[in-house]
Amino acid sequence: TRIVVLVSGAGTNLQALIDACADPAYGARIAAVGADRDGIEGLARADRAGIATFVARVGDFSSREHWDRALADKVAAFEPDLVVLAGFMKLVSEDFLARLTTVNTHPALCPAFPGTNGPAAALAYGVKVTGATLFVVDGGIDTGPIVAQVAVPVEDDDDVESLHERIKVAERQMLVDAVGRIARDGLVVEGRKVRIGTPAP
Ligand code: GRF
Repeated sequence: TRIVVLVSGAGTNLQALIDACADPAYGARIAAVGADRDGIEGLARADRAGIATFVARVGDFSSREHWDRALADKVAAFEPDLVVLAGFMKLVSEDFLARLTTVNTHPALCPAFPGTNGPAAALAYGVKVTGATLFVVDGGIDTGPIVAQVAVPVEDDDDVESLHERIKVAERQMLVDAVGRIARDGLVVEGRKVRIGTPAP
C-alpha cells in the first residue's frame, strides 16, 4: 500500500508512520511527503528518512482552485493508494477527494469539536473525555465517515498544550494501527459506515 502523507507542522504523526513503515510486515510504504509550507519539521523528518518531498504553497498560485489542482497533481504523481493528512492545516476540494482516497486525523472525538483547535474547544467545554479520530475526508470540516477513534481523559490541571500532547500520544498509535489495518485488509466506505476489508462482490 503506497501512502502519501501531507503535513503542515511538527510531523510527529508522520514520524510514527515512518517508524511503523520501517517494518516490511506493516504493509504500507510512504511514497512521498507533501506540505503547504517550507521549513517545517515534518519535511525534515521525511528528508532524514530518505522519503521524497514536495511543497505546494497557496500563495504561489493565482487561486485556491489552482493550488488545489496542483497539489492533487503532485500527490497523484506518486500513485498512492491512500493519502493521509497528518496535521495538514488546509482543506482540500471535492475534486481532490474524487481523485484520491484521503483520511485525516483530528485531535477530538468527532463529531465533537471540529476545526482547528479541538483540544482548546474540549477544554473550554469542560468535557472529561476527549480523544482523536481518523476519518475519511468528505469535503466538510472533520465530518467524514469514521475509521478509528481513541478516547483520552482530560485532567483537572490540563492546559491546551498538556491535553493536546496527551491526545497526540494516543493519536499516533491510533493512526499507526488503523493505517496498518487498511494496508493489510483495505478500506470500504459505504455511506457513513467504514469497514476494514475488501468490497463485497
Ligand atoms: C495532530 O494532533 C493533528 O491531529 C492536529 O495537529 C496535530 C499535528 O501534530 N491537526 P504533528 O504535526 O503530527 O506532530
